[in-house]
Amino acid sequence: MRLALLGCGTVGGEVVRLLHEQSADLAARIGAPIEIAGIAVRRLNRDRGDLPVDPALFTTDALGLVKRDDVDVVVEVVGGIEPARGWLVEALRAGKSVVTANKALLAEDGAALHDAAAEGGGDLYYEASVAGAIPLLRPLRESLHGDRITQVTGIVNGTTNFILSAMDATGAGFAEALEEATELGYAEADPTADVEGFDAAAKAAILASLAFHTRVSAADVHREGITEVTAADVASAKAMGCTIKLLCIAARGADAAGRETVNVRVHPAMIPLTHPLASVGDAFNAVFVEAEAAGQLMFYGRGAGGAPTASAVLGDVVAVARNRLAGVRAASESAYADLSVRPMGEALTRYHISLDVADRPGVLAAVAGVFARHDVSIATVRQGSAAAGTSGGGRDDDAELVIVTHVAPDAALAATVGELRGLDIVRSVTSVLRVEGGF
Ligand code: NDP
Ligand code: HSE
Repeated sequence: MRLALLGCGTVGGEVVRLLHEQSADLAARIGAPIEIAGIAVRRLNRDRGDLPVDPALFTTDALGLVKRDDVDVVVEVVGGIEPARGWLVEALRAGKSVVTANKALLAEDGAALHDAAAEGGGDLYYEASVAGAIPLLRPLRESLHGDRITQVTGIVNGTTNFILSAMDATGAGFAEALEEATELGYAEADPTADVEGFDAAAKAAILASLAFHTRVSAADVHREGITEVTAADVASAKAMGCTIKLLCIAARGADAAGRETVNVRVHPAMIPLTHPLASVGDAFNAVFVEAEAAGQLMFYGRGAGGAPTASAVLGDVVAVARNRLAGVRAASESAYADLSVRPMGEALTRYHISLDVADRPGVLAAVAGVFARHDVSIATVRQGSAAAGTSGGGRDDDAELVIVTHVAPDAALAATVGELRGLDIVRSVTSVLRVEGGF
């Protein structure tokens, strides 16, 4: 089995190392030895430490490598849309099997890759693209194919989980925690993809596509990152017995006409400390899958980093190599359901809202009236001092109101917050966070 490796950075370097260290076992599991035909990189002169590989294998001509007749399997761990899409479409059309960790490309234009795989007859595997080492996509695309998945909820970005966990546990600053996550190899080449939620949104699209047998792309996913989450939000969550996580939620629902739809979203949310996702720290990922017959399933493990991701890549390499030797291919893409995507405004969510208000008679009633006008039901109200940010003491003429709502359409909640911002009795809306997992 001859393998072309595209990329030899954080993940690719570990793929090379594992291929070397496990070569005898991999050969036994596949039924044939696996050899690296070439490694495409951007910089031939980059110091790659003591990587156990012949330097003559490196090339900057990725397309030339992909086109070689002696290549059976192409492993892409470069990232980005182009030129990766061109290389992989070329490989798949030529009948080669492809293993990729490139969630950005899969979410942007997975259709092009699936179509090319169908045309060429090779396999397209991408376990490493979501939740690093965690075996998650294969259960979705194989083990759960006899069931009906209703919701997928998870923490799927290691970098942002690392940052939020550090802010919560040690009070670390955002920038300092991001720098550490980058040094540890968790962040994307451009960490904006992590902190602005693009990476999690890409993963959400991949998960939703598999769970709901529907092509969902990154553009269909409502996305908010963590850059607006402040130390005050983290403290406010703590005061409520909660923590803040960047969640990915993909759920079935129905439109006004009763037609089945899906809603896919990524945003920070407060969850109670008793929620199983609350204890997922560091760069770990965890994903809940709810299915009609199976009930709740939870997948947990390392979601980022070179070695964990390389583990998933190699699992795919073994699978596609075995298929090639047996002259078979995996089941092709399942997108028959073709559900429509429900806009975020129709998603049912809950909000936690902190307001600085004038502390005088009638203010609470005026604030409650805004919620009532938008048909949003209030679950709890807590009043404290605006100066202290908690109950007791503080300025005489201001108060802090912390309101948690019941479930309502997101558009109604957003409109409520918009109207509150315009009231002269509301000095400022200090924090707005969605709440998940009831408390
Ligand atoms: P790195 O930036 O560490 O490595 C990228 C590699 O691609 C480098 O070897 C680089 O070459 C090479 N490269 C970049 N541009 C080109 C080009 N035009 N032609 C040839 N080679 C090129 O990225 P990662 O290893 O972190 O990530 C790789 C992929 O894996 C991405 O899709 C990422 O989203 C995904 N992924 C990463 C995870 C992680 O934890 N890091 C986890 C899960 C998925 P050179 O070495 O010369 O710079
Ligand atoms: N940057 C990604 C993360 C890598 O932090 O989760 C794993 O996909």
